Amino acid sequence: MARRRRVYEGKAKVLYEGPEPGTLVQYFKDDATAFNNKKSATIVGKGVLNNRISEYLMARIAEIGIPTHFVRRLNMREQLIKEVEIIPVEVIIRNISAGSLATRLGIPEGTALPRSIVEFCYKSDELGDPLITEEHITAFGWATPQEIDDIMAMSLRINDFLIGLFLGIGIKLVDFKLEFGRLYENEMVRVVLADEISPDNCRLWDTKTNEKMDKDRFRRDLGGVAEAYQEVARRLGIMPEG
Ligand code: C5P
Repeated sequence: MARRRRVYEGKAKVLYEGPEPGTLVQYFKDDATAFNNKKSATIVGKGVLNNRISEYLMARIAEIGIPTHFVRRLNMREQLIKEVEIIPVEVIIRNISAGSLATRLGIPEGTALPRSIVEFCYKSDELGDPLITEEHITAFGWATPQEIDDIMAMSLRINDFLIGLFLGIGIKLVDFKLEFGRLYENEMVRVVLADEISPDNCRLWDTKTNEKMDKDRFRRDLGGVAEAYQEVARRLGIMPEG
């Protein structure tokens, strides 16, 4: 078979040209990186789990009326997605203090936040994804005020939905990162959810034990990374693989 053209390679995923114009194939690697590439490793089976978990969550999110880039899963490691123009802003939604919020503001990890907090970071590996405000986003033209409104509304709705979904399987959604893109379709442009939602970009804690079931196991050398991702998939009811 002729090799497909590689469009983009990131830390955990590769994007290939898709079978039809306007589509891409998103391939999930087993590679993991943290602290802006300073730490890296291969976690056997991670790509398969994230492909499956992200498929499940994107499909559930589409069911509540939020447009996404996801089309369908193709195989163990690949999914078909619609090609979008990625907005270079990472949207972080937090419900419980952890990670960089805990460090930056001195709020002890595990403290429930008075309300959900949305943060924006500029997507730049060279700069280490710095925290930015709406002012930067509009001043530098990364997104329009209308697009920011749409992104905020979708992010909060996704957060409410996912909090309930995870709570139902004994998991606290501490925080997570979303990315959005512009989809040009039928001579229209609209903002849709893109990238992936998996334990690589969420903090997920067991409700009873507070055990970490996400990438912090890798970041903090806690071990059992693949096992934790597998447990998330099992609780979501999507394991073993059919
Ligand atoms: O490190 P920090 O506390 O800011 O991360 C908040 C959330 O966003 C975590 O769930 C983390 O996994 C996710 N994140 C990400 N990609 C980044 C930065 C953060 O997925 N570049």
